Amino acid sequence: MPLVTTKEMFEKSMKEGFAVGAFNVNNMEIIQGIVDAAKEENSPVILQASSGAIKYARINYLMKMVEAAVEESNIPIAIHLDHGPDFETCKMCIDAGFTSVMIDGSKYDFEENVALTKKVVDYAHAHGVVVEAELGKLAGIEDDVNVSESDAMYTDPDQAKEFVERTGCDSLAIAIGTSHGAYKFKGEAKLRFDILAKIKEKVPNTPIVLHGASTVIPELVEMCNKYGADIPGAKGVPDEMLHEASVKGVSKINVDTDLRLAMTAQIRKTFAEEPSQFDPRKYLTPARDEIKNVVQHKIRDVFGSSNKA
Ligand code: G3H
Ligand code: 13P
Ligand code: ZN
Repeated sequence: MPLVTTKEMFEKSMKEGFAVGAFNVNNMEIIQGIVDAAKEENSPVILQASSGAIKYARINYLMKMVEAAVEESNIPIAIHLDHGPDFETCKMCIDAGFTSVMIDGSKYDFEENVALTKKVVDYAHAHGVVVEAELGKLAGIEDDVNVSESDAMYTDPDQAKEFVERTGCDSLAIAIGTSHGAYKFKGEAKLRFDILAKIKEKVPNTPIVLHGASTVIPELVEMCNKYGADIPGAKGVPDEMLHEASVKGVSKINVDTDLRLAMTAQIRKTFAEEPSQFDPRKYLTPARDEIKNVVQHKIRDVFGSSNKA
């Protein structure tokens, strides 16, 4: 099966009530761990690269590695630009063969976000590529003490309808209480499922995307800390909430932090337990295996996309 866009996997997800995992990739071991898990679960999967990942791994290497993964598997795989910062980066990825791009105009005001997103949509659609856009602001919501200000950062359902109609974007990333990284909540984890429901009412046919959706798996944080890391008080979105999101209309769930923790925990463990070891294959093999475990658990037990290939 060739590389695909997210169109069909999202149509299926909306019809059948599951979410597709979108996992950030930066190197070969991460790509292999993710795709091996998705293959075993017979699940569609989205591999996504940020502009930082593209700078690190280089776009040609990334594309060739993703193509190798596609050749070795028989599941739907999309390659997606995560948080495209501008038109030029989106165009570069479209021209390089990405099947999906995100234009993140959430830092701009509504009108500027509409104009930039529309420009990317026009170019992408002319090349058979789909576009994810973002409305609302993720970062720092949980730190906001002022409720009315904090409310203003969540995605507004009426604006979402206008935004989708005016831009023609294929999917929409929303802000309902998550944030990026390992420190998502100070107290209890809380997602605004009421806002998600209103957005689904306003744009029932638009696939919804949840960023900042790592669980920040406590066992992996503990393992990192046990072997010398300093990551105190990290907290993410519990599995139960992610499952609820996946059955209540979220079609794409973004995960990066959990993969970083998985890789770091295993590498730290090998370094601590086998100080004489300096063969990269010896510490990257358990790291790749842990990434596979994490992705397989999410696909099978949380997102519900097993056997949806
Ligand atoms: O949402 C951001 C992703 O975690 C990617 O992070 O820009 O450091 O590659 P990055
Ligand atoms: P996490 O930091 O929660 O893994 O979120 C990743 C993400 O949203 C990538 O776009
Ligand atoms: Zn994100």
